[in-house]
Amino acid sequence: MEEKSNISVFDKKTLTDKDFKRLSDFIYSNYGIKMPYQKKVMLEGRLQKRLRHWGFKSFNEYCDFVFSEKGQEAEVIHMIDVVSTNKTDFFRESAHFDYMTNEILPLYKEKGVNQIDIWSSACSSGEEPYTIAMVMNEFNDNNKAYLKYNILCSDISTDILSKAKQGIYRLERIENIPLAMKRKYFLKSKDTQNPTVRVVPELRKKMSFTRLNLMDPKYNVPTKYDIIFCRNVLIYFDWETQEKVINKLCEQLKPGGYFFLGHSESAINKNVPLKQIRPTVFVRT
Ligand SMILES: C[S@@+](CC[C@H](N)C(=O)[O-])C[C@H]1O[C@@H](n2cnc3c(N)ncnc32)[C@H](O)[C@@H]1O
Repeated sequence: MEEKSNISVFDKKTLTDKDFKRLSDFIYSNYGIKMPYQKKVMLEGRLQKRLRHWGFKSFNEYCDFVFSEKGQEAEVIHMIDVVSTNKTDFFRESAHFDYMTNEILPLYKEKGVNQIDIWSSACSSGEEPYTIAMVMNEFNDNNKAYLKYNILCSDISTDILSKAKQGIYRLERIENIPLAMKRKYFLKSKDTQNPTVRVVPELRKKMSFTRLNLMDPKYNVPTKYDIIFCRNVLIYFDWETQEKVINKLCEQLKPGGYFFLGHSESAINKNVPLKQIRPTVFVRT
């Protein structure tokens, strides 16, 4: 027993300061994800499985591979998958969804708009865009409205995007959703050992998924959007990068369109074409 646990301790590879710097500089300058020195242990822990995957005996070997032509193609995408923080929830920061229901959607209805394009630009495992879809459906059903909508879901992590696309969640993830909505928008699995739910096809068919790096100055998206959600991702970027990312997103937001940020993020005092209407809700000028 003793021996076995010792082997696993020795098996853990150590990340030197030099290799940490190589990796953290690369991750930050290409993906905007801040990696201060305090995150060294976290990075070392999360990357162990990538070293095991390739059979590397040290981080030094792994780093050389990451920066090689083959590594850039075959590994960087997986490294970013394990490095990004994907915490999310259904109806996270619910004031945004109340604001949509009570203020934004009635205005669109009044104006006779019949198609709304929405972009969840750091959608993680899908809870945010499926929440938006539930809000749209509820508004239509409760107000005899016929606002058609499409939601573009994008994220930098391919792993997390494939989860979002599946729309399958552990039962406890939807605990806080009102019962009537759970019944309407989720199908329960028959597996009693591992109970999961799946978002109904009616909502899933409104979604399209694409991997996209918000830091990429050249990305393309299919249309101009009425509403963009960019929540809880800017916190990982420095001020200058945040400004660039918001400006690029604003190019894709229609004038008068709405822009949502996370609770600890702001577009105030930044050189961006947005006017604040609520603490974390903005309108494109
Ligand atoms: C904390 S989650 C927020 C999810 C959701 N927006 C919310 O508020 O609940 C942050 C997401 O941003 C994604 N992300 C991090 N850096 C990114 C980048 N440069 N471009 C696009 N997405 C990124 C991560 O993969 C992660 O899924």
